[in-house]
Amino acid sequence: MSQKSKSSKAAKSKPKSAAKAAAKPAKPAAKAGKSAKAAKKVPAESRVFAPSAEFVKSSRIQSLDQYRRMHAQSLKDPEKFFGREAAELQWRKPYRRVLDWKCPDAKWFVGGQLNVSENCLDRHLAGPRRNKAALIWEGEPGEKRVLTYQQLHREVCRFANVLKRHKVKKGDRVVIYMPMVPEAAVAMLACTRIGAMHSVIFGGFSAESIKDRVLDCDAAVIITSDGGYRRGAVVPLKKNVDDALKGGETKVRSVIVLKRTGQEVHMEEGRDVWWHRELEYVDAVCPAVAMDSEAPLFILYTSGSTGKPKGILHTTAGYLLHAQMTCKYVFDLREEDVYWCTADVGWVTGHSYLVYGPLALGATSLMYEGAPNWPENDRFWRIIEDYGVTVFYTAPTAIRAFMKWGDEWLTKHDLSSLRLLGTVGEPINPEAWMWYHRLVGGSRCPIVDTWWQTETGGHMITPIPGAVPTKPGSATLPFFGVDAAVVDDLGKEVGKDEQGKLVIRKPWPSMLRGIWGDKDRYQKTYWSDFKGWYFAGDGARRDKDGYFWIIGRIDDVLNVAGHRLGTAEVESALVSHPAVAESAVVGRPDELKGQGVVCFVTVKEGVKTSKELADELKRHVRKVIGPVATPDEVRFAAALPKTRSGKIMRRLLKQIASGEALKGDTTTLEDVNVVAALAAASAED
Ligand code: WTA
Repeated sequence: MSQKSKSSKAAKSKPKSAAKAAAKPAKPAAKAGKSAKAAKKVPAESRVFAPSAEFVKSSRIQSLDQYRRMHAQSLKDPEKFFGREAAELQWRKPYRRVLDWKCPDAKWFVGGQLNVSENCLDRHLAGPRRNKAALIWEGEPGEKRVLTYQQLHREVCRFANVLKRHKVKKGDRVVIYMPMVPEAAVAMLACTRIGAMHSVIFGGFSAESIKDRVLDCDAAVIITSDGGYRRGAVVPLKKNVDDALKGGETKVRSVIVLKRTGQEVHMEEGRDVWWHRELEYVDAVCPAVAMDSEAPLFILYTSGSTGKPKGILHTTAGYLLHAQMTCKYVFDLREEDVYWCTADVGWVTGHSYLVYGPLALGATSLMYEGAPNWPENDRFWRIIEDYGVTVFYTAPTAIRAFMKWGDEWLTKHDLSSLRLLGTVGEPINPEAWMWYHRLVGGSRCPIVDTWWQTETGGHMITPIPGAVPTKPGSATLPFFGVDAAVVDDLGKEVGKDEQGKLVIRKPWPSMLRGIWGDKDRYQKTYWSDFKGWYFAGDGARRDKDGYFWIIGRIDDVLNVAGHRLGTAEVESALVSHPAVAESAVVGRPDELKGQGVVCFVTVKEGVKTSKELADELKRHVRKVIGPVATPDEVRFAAALPKTRSGKIMRRLLKQIASGEALKGDTTTLEDVNVVAALAAASAED
């Protein structure tokens, strides 16, 4: 079949509105401004963007029909579908069965053995990929480094031997608290090489947050660096680790410190060692350990609606397969691509789409250490131009910041190397989508808006570029093996355009396998709202074409600049301050960050409220959780609105925080006057 007839067949098979747009030839970039202006008149949801014939021609899946067939097959016969995909991994021992499922426990590729670092590195060494760039790195101050697959392999082997020297064994937990430098990826891969589990902690978390996580996963070794660069300043990473370990509650026996910024740091005798010195004692030979498919791979902490952060557990084969598969089908990664994911390794996006997925596929992954506006607002565009980035993956919050900074920062750069764009982390508003499409993508690049979570390990609802026409603001359709639905509280699918809860009705290879050390919480949080189905807190609706539109969290989790934050965590940080009696934290819409953090606080008897106290409480939350959780506003109140049973009425507080008129039923309120007083109170007085 010729390419031409393939794409015209693609157009025929699309739903009516999509087909209409798909049948039109792709608009040349020059006319984009005009077409976008015309499109502005119609509501966002009716705009449909078909992949260009140019893109379709070389993409792996070339029509909506083909996507639908494959998706149906992946649900009907997951054994066959995933069995075929899993053949692309390098196995030490073949598996016996694709799936064992007894809700909520899934085992994928039962009986098989493999090693993640071997799949990400060794298997690429036999052919021409040996000398291909695996990681391209740029530091914030401007240093550049390229590690070929062979060089990365060597660094990983050497560092794995350092870990062995520090008595790290299979199954041990290693905490990684590092800046965005190649050594962060080296450390992760070295853990997987010897079968140790890593738990990466984002550099924006505080000493106390590090301590909680180290204690929870019982880590014996921490890998960190003296500091990291962020917007020209040095983040004191080692100092934070020192503070976390003060008091001697943890079992940490070794801290391995990379020299990055070169400032003076304290080195604890008998505990702290320098990364570069340790390398002097080891060689570069380190065989990868064969791991069971279901062997724990890593723990990544994320916020939930109650209590302390949850240690999300991922295992070996299913996670790796999904990361590789999505890089193949969603990012459409090719041998010659220069792929850039801007996420930090401290988040799941950095795990799956900076390190494991692209490297498993033998791609070139770009890593940038610092801020997008350092030294100036065009740093990202400069990087894209300098390296000829072809596939670019970032967050809506970043896109909104770029829009605010002004088009001139990017129009002076040549971004014509780009061929595919992606977003992740929060719903993208159609205006930001359109801006991304026109200005960054030159109206020629498909955008993959990927909905997924720390818990899901990889993309769940996302366009397959080349096959699925996109609509600004919609994550479109489920990935292979994903049985997504929008249901009411009883589990019945809601009607077209009605809002409901987003559930996944079948296990998938990269699903979380548990919450570290808390089986009950795992069952309760994810599998008890709907028997046998996964629910993780998002609301959504589907349109007439079956496209998913993610509304956002409907539990007590905030999404601030794409970072998950539990309201309960912030509340407990607030009440740990001696002046605070009670607190309630809610989100309010924020133009840049998606959501901002608003804290309602009542103070203890005799405490005087003031602007200074509000600022102190903000600093306190920052100290307890980390800069990621800094409140936008602290409002003092004489009392918080509660139901007669004592439950804080967050719905009302949300309305107050966002300055909306109060709606809904307040008859269960204990004291209606409280609400009136809160609404009347101006901020921070
Ligand atoms: C939100 C990040 C809309 C969602 C990979 C989810 C999104 C939470 C999207 C998970 C998207 C992520 N559209 N919302 N494309 N991607 N979210 O665990 O609310 O840090 O539940 O994982 O981010 O955040 P997490």
